[in-house]
Amino acid sequence: MALRDMLEGTWTGSGLGSYPEVAEFSYREVLRFESHGRPFLRMEQHTTGPDGSPLHTEVGYLRFVAKGRVELVVAQPTGIVEVLEGSVDEGVDGLTISLTSLLVGTTPSAKRVDSTQRQFRLRGDELVSELWMDALGRGMHQHLEAHLRRG
Ligand code: HEM
Repeated sequence: MALRDMLEGTWTGSGLGSYPEVAEFSYREVLRFESHGRPFLRMEQHTTGPDGSPLHTEVGYLRFVAKGRVELVVAQPTGIVEVLEGSVDEGVDGLTISLTSLLVGTTPSAKRVDSTQRQFRLRGDELVSELWMDALGRGMHQHLEAHLRRG
């Protein structure tokens, strides 16, 4: 099955967030990968807190550029944009997409983020989405881990 078909659709589930000097938090996530018939997927994510209040949201494009290579551009309403590149590994246990930022751009009022890493792991019916960031001079640490299922 093509990579695009493996990811296309709506994924929902819950996640845990953390970072130095940030109180741990949990969230619900809806992540949608939409195909436009070209070698990329449009990505749109919405998250809410335990009380249903809106948290983070972002939109981007996951680009399949060559065999085993992917790129991701993402824009966030917090004034942050990420440009990442990385690999796709199709192992016996499933699909793993690992991405490292080439640049993180921030508007003048945004919080400082120097670099990010993201990973999507498809294992059976479950998609695990993780993000690490080096932000506010606090070093590279995990910020997010969500476990999602289709639907
Ligand atoms: C599932 C998506 C995400 C959720 C639910 C989430 C949630 C949160 C929460 C609850 C906080 C602590 C309160 C606050 O400062 O607003 C926080 C802090 C922060 N997040 Fe996220 N976040 C997400 C994605 C991201 C991404 C993609 C980035 C950057 C690439 C990011 C960067 C930051 C930064 C820089 C802080 C500030 C820490 C501080 O001021 O001490 N977050 N996030």
